[in-house]
Amino acid sequence: MNKDNRFMNELFRIVNGALRLDVDKVRNYTAFLADKLEKDGDKVAAGRLRKMLEETDHQLRPADIGFARALPVDAESRFALIERVNLKSLHERPILLSEDQWGVVNEFLSIAKSYAQLDAEGVAGSISLLVYGPPGTGKSRLTRFIAQELGLELYVARLDGLISSFLGSTSKNIRALFDFAAKTPCVLFLDEFDAIAKLRGDSQELGELKRVVNSFIQNLDSLGPQSIVVAATNHEELLDSAVWRRFGYRLELGFPTADLRAQMWSQFLRPIDFGERDLELLVDLSDGFSGSDIQEVCWRLQRRRITTEEPPELKDAFRILQNIGIGEGQERRFLSALRGKDTNAVARALRSRNEKLYSHAALAHLLGVSKATAYRKTLKGAKQNGR
Ligand SMILES: Nc1ncnc2c1ncn2[C@@H]1O[C@H](COP(=O)(O)OP(=O)(O)OP(=O)(O)O)[C@@H](O)[C@H]1O
Ligand SMILES: [Mg+2]
Repeated sequence: MNKDNRFMNELFRIVNGALRLDVDKVRNYTAFLADKLEKDGDKVAAGRLRKMLEETDHQLRPADIGFARALPVDAESRFALIERVNLKSLHERPILLSEDQWGVVNEFLSIAKSYAQLDAEGVAGSISLLVYGPPGTGKSRLTRFIAQELGLELYVARLDGLISSFLGSTSKNIRALFDFAAKTPCVLFLDEFDAIAKLRGDSQELGELKRVVNSFIQNLDSLGPQSIVVAATNHEELLDSAVWRRFGYRLELGFPTADLRAQMWSQFLRPIDFGERDLELLVDLSDGFSGSDIQEVCWRLQRRRITTEEPPELKDAFRILQNIGIGEGQERRFLSALRGKDTNAVARALRSRNEKLYSHAALAHLLGVSKATAYRKTLKGAKQNGR
């Protein structure tokens, strides 16, 4: 896109808002355009736009001028339906995905970035992404990354909170949510998205509930290109095809492969350096872990590193791995066999999994014992008492 076209997206939306007498939309996109111009080096134009905003709004303090912050609220309780995520205060480690997963993410990002151009050619589709997979696999983390990459604000709506016991209120909530998104340049993150799908499958009050879900789908359809929607769910099997089809992009985030686990361990452990051989063991031991589980083990090691004088060792990592809780519905297939207190049985389980990887030297290192002791532990019928 050439330089002059880069701001057309915002310009069209401002004009669209003005023609519909939608002051919020005009103001939000003007503030957004000012930020974009400033980033582009045009401080003068940015300043002029901001001044216009300032002069035409007397209810807001100058420091607040930017996006209108009035968040939609629940029709009954008046609690906010969505929450703004402060991306600037987050210092996160990079997200780690497989090559295929990056393929989907990068395509989604490039479409979102060049929407105006695609729209002009009539080939823009919906910019919505459905991310699904077990807990702790990076769905929320990825959404923050997407918002950061696009330079957009991130608003999170938890759909279970949106569903009111009064169905009439639920419809109002859905409308309020989408009205807000239509006026605000943002990534709208619909978390716990299966809550809406569950509604549809519920056999009680079916007609009424169906109507609510359909209104949700219609709202999603008519949102238009100005907002980017990301929905996340742990229960993709609950989504019916009508909902599923609404999303132009879909991405499965499953438990990380060995290759990704290796990258996670070395990244999350930094500056602790366990060496390649130890990492290999950790990668194998964490088979069936989510990224979040690996991060949890690493955090505990980091805390140890900071609060004690000694640098953590592999045996410390192994102990944490052993006693980390097993999540509901999550099968840490291999580790569950290792959770017992009987270190002889543990040593033998490891050995029978992979004799080469779990050599006597490796076992000694993992269990914090001598090589000779490790050897004794692996003997059939070895005594139960520790060392
Ligand atoms: N692929 C990944 N790359 C980097 N970090 C990851 C990855 N997966 C998980 N993590 C780490 O685990 C943390 C928790 O993940 P996140 O909250 O995104 O999971 P989720 O899939 O949204 O889980 P839930 O379904 O419970 O909401 C993240 O903040 C991140 O630090
Ligand atoms: Mg999440």
